[in-house]
Amino acid sequence: MSAALEVRDLVVAYGKIRAVKGISFTVNHGEIVTLIGTNGAGKTTTLRTISGLVPVESGEIYFQGERIDGVPAHQIVERGLAHAPEGRRIFPRMTVEENLLLGAYSRRDSGISTDLERVYTLFPVLAERRRQAAGTFSGGEQQMLAIGRALMSRPKLLMLDEPSMGLSPMMMRRIMSTIRELKEQGTTILLVEQNAQAALELADRGYVLEVGRIVLSDTGHNLLGNEQVRKAYLGED
Ligand SMILES: Nc1ncnc2c1ncn2[C@@H]1O[C@H](COP(=O)(O)OP(=O)(O)OP(=O)(O)O)[C@@H](O)[C@H]1O
Ligand SMILES: [Mg+2]
Repeated sequence: MSAALEVRDLVVAYGKIRAVKGISFTVNHGEIVTLIGTNGAGKTTTLRTISGLVPVESGEIYFQGERIDGVPAHQIVERGLAHAPEGRRIFPRMTVEENLLLGAYSRRDSGISTDLERVYTLFPVLAERRRQAAGTFSGGEQQMLAIGRALMSRPKLLMLDEPSMGLSPMMMRRIMSTIRELKEQGTTILLVEQNAQAALELADRGYVLEVGRIVLSDTGHNLLGNEQVRKAYLGED
């Protein structure tokens, strides 16, 4: 069976600047895979390219065995690949529920209300405030809303870009345990995180990105114990 996601020799450039310099990685069905790396390593660029928001310079991207580079972004979502972007990007004047329903815009099935209830069960604070404008939410609450919205497309693969950014330690643990729950429910996850410790504890496997190149890949467990990773990403001297 083909991998959930396969990226082959991907190169992405902004004008003359190459942000991603030929990376290859896979995400298997049911896995949590994390990309870690310092600021500017190319993590967000990689996710945006997979989503069809940034064009590929060269290389290939396969989602469930089918090539998706060059496919328009909305069709990629329809095929089951959702993206909760960096910086949340919720619609502040719309209510919580309107934001969530936007995530389901491409669906025509009858399961939307069931999935809405599932998101509300996952994040009760969203249920309590479903009629409230999303712009009044705290950073952590907006992050939950962004993840909830991505889930509303009922994705086979969910990409999360820095879900813990700006969150309190308690909120961060909530988000991390939610990601684990989603995996247990069968969602495949590609997670980008600055918080390498939290990401590697959660991930089956990880890739370390340095200025557009993958320099290391292993199981989450082994990367957590890797001396090079501990020095560069886990703040040890
Ligand atoms: N729209 C853009 N135009 C030009 N250069 C860009 C653009 N977006 C990103 N870059 C550059 O591409 C490189 C990779 O950026 P990217 O956002 O992918 O990094 P990142 O790993 O997500 O970093 P961070 O951890 O800070 O979010 C950086 O050098 C960045 O300045
Ligand atoms: Mg980023």
